[in-house]
Amino acid sequence: MEIKQQPGDAMGATVEDFDHTTASEADIAALKNTVYTKKIAILKGQDLAPEQFLELGKRLGRPETYYEPMYKHPEVPEIFVSSNVPENGKQIGVPKTGKFWHADYQFMPNPFGITLIHPQVVPEKNRGTYFIDMGRAYERLPADLKKEIAGTYCRHSVRKYFKIRPQDVYRPLSEIIDEVERKTPAVRQPTTFTHPMTGETVLYISEGFTVGIEDEGGRPLDEELLKRLFDATGQLDEAFEHENIHLQGFEKGDLLVWDNRSLIHRARHTTTPEPTVSHRVTVHDERRLHDGMEVAA
Ligand SMILES: [Fe+2]
Repeated sequence: MEIKQQPGDAMGATVEDFDHTTASEADIAALKNTVYTKKIAILKGQDLAPEQFLELGKRLGRPETYYEPMYKHPEVPEIFVSSNVPENGKQIGVPKTGKFWHADYQFMPNPFGITLIHPQVVPEKNRGTYFIDMGRAYERLPADLKKEIAGTYCRHSVRKYFKIRPQDVYRPLSEIIDEVERKTPAVRQPTTFTHPMTGETVLYISEGFTVGIEDEGGRPLDEELLKRLFDATGQLDEAFEHENIHLQGFEKGDLLVWDNRSLIHRARHTTTPEPTVSHRVTVHDERRLHDGMEVAA
């Protein structure tokens, strides 16, 4: 295994000659350390079948299976499938996922630390995923904004981007909304937390899932404050030119592993729909999202 880090503090590292079936514990520890410090590791030359991809994921942690069944791979349910390519006329997984800024499972009580993506069908033109390192974005906030959010909490919900399922057709919208609020009520997290693996302060908010900001006692604060945070961190820049935004490219055979505590991400917008298929495995490492978790899991 050879890890090639980007020079300086640039995000991302490439990892060559990684074989999950023979990697030593020290290799796994080195890979995870790269994920925590460089935020994205691109494993080259993988080309794994779904079962193999899951086995690789298991070397890094305990898999979390996505809660909504329509995203599941038909043979390996731990794999989440994003696809706009029907197989034998049948839709597998869900098309157009994640086209908004988010951290995976941010709306759930116990989000996992690591996300792995293995692209299967790579688009010709608009390949890549946008990322923002919310640790670095926090560092760059103006001092007065940092002061304003100290000791505050945010609420996260899937409600804005919950996707209607096949079985929801002909159901009243109000009934679906009630179900979403009952099954996945908004969760509260501190607006910033200390990354348990690196000690960085992470600003844990996203335009897609963060729906409110409040003081310690639960009294809502002005929504304008959230908007200012989204704006300052680059999440409202629809041209994707903000200095915080990193476009990570990939090619067939790559397998991306990233730090789901620090990074928010967004699928690249495509004006012309191109065939795209990717498999995702998500795993809990040995620590919780942060050490101050309020909810037992
Ligand atoms: Fe995602």
